[in-house]
Amino acid sequence: MTGSTSQERWTDLDAAGAVNQRVVDDYRRDGFVRVRGILEPAEVTRFKAAAEAYLAAHRSENFSRDAVFTQLVNVWPRDPTIAELTLHPRIARVAEQLAGIPLRIWHDHMLVKEPHNNVATEFHQDRPYWPHASDRHSLSAWVALVDVPFERGCMTFLPGTQNLTGFRPQNLHDEEDLFTVDPSLRWRPRVTVPLRAGDCTFHSSYTGHMALPNRTDQARFAHVTIYMDADTVYAGTPHVVTDPLGLAAGDRLDGETFPRPWGTTGG
Ligand code: SIN
Ligand code: NI
Repeated sequence: MTGSTSQERWTDLDAAGAVNQRVVDDYRRDGFVRVRGILEPAEVTRFKAAAEAYLAAHRSENFSRDAVFTQLVNVWPRDPTIAELTLHPRIARVAEQLAGIPLRIWHDHMLVKEPHNNVATEFHQDRPYWPHASDRHSLSAWVALVDVPFERGCMTFLPGTQNLTGFRPQNLHDEEDLFTVDPSLRWRPRVTVPLRAGDCTFHSSYTGHMALPNRTDQARFAHVTIYMDADTVYAGTPHVVTDPLGLAAGDRLDGETFPRPWGTTGG
């Protein structure tokens, strides 16, 4: 940790933009970690304004607005400012440090819990939803664009569950579903992580997690970038991101749709 800036902004990044070994070790032990100050204050202001404008323009066409959250998938190809956030080299660098392998973008999504939505995102793992094969690791950067205390819908994790592979997809509208799949998880300690605007958590795609309800007057804006193993291939199962692409099972998920623009090895 490098401490605070003149604006008392705490960051877990060093002067070169990397996290220290303790952060990497915490991530590998628990399957999630908080990284404070991944965005500069001026970036938060800019990205939050872009997210609000995008939500206002696209809320009505959103295919999955429900009580849990308004979800806008793959914003980055449609909004050049949000693209800077999704493809941010500082965030990608930390993601690759934690994963320990080259990554590319799977997709982003803006997850907005509207004021007083009063509905939790229930416990689930992410990876069982995805049509991925031959992948060694995948993880999400969940970036807070507003302060997200407990009351506004911050995330809760089940440490150690990143090692539980092979479960069926779980219903994030059903608070019992993950515990039906594995009843022992009900007795695991849970870790709830409030974030200041500009902080983020990284979680492995197998780590069990949920988000609390928003019980405040302000919307909860989270921007989530999902990174996958750069060598991931298509598993052939349906998914909203891959369905329009005409892929065959075994095709590589790469190129412009799944870029690694920050990297040295290209797309
Ligand atoms: C949420 O922010 O409501 C859920 C995020 C996630 O499932 O990754
Ligand atoms: Ni999730």
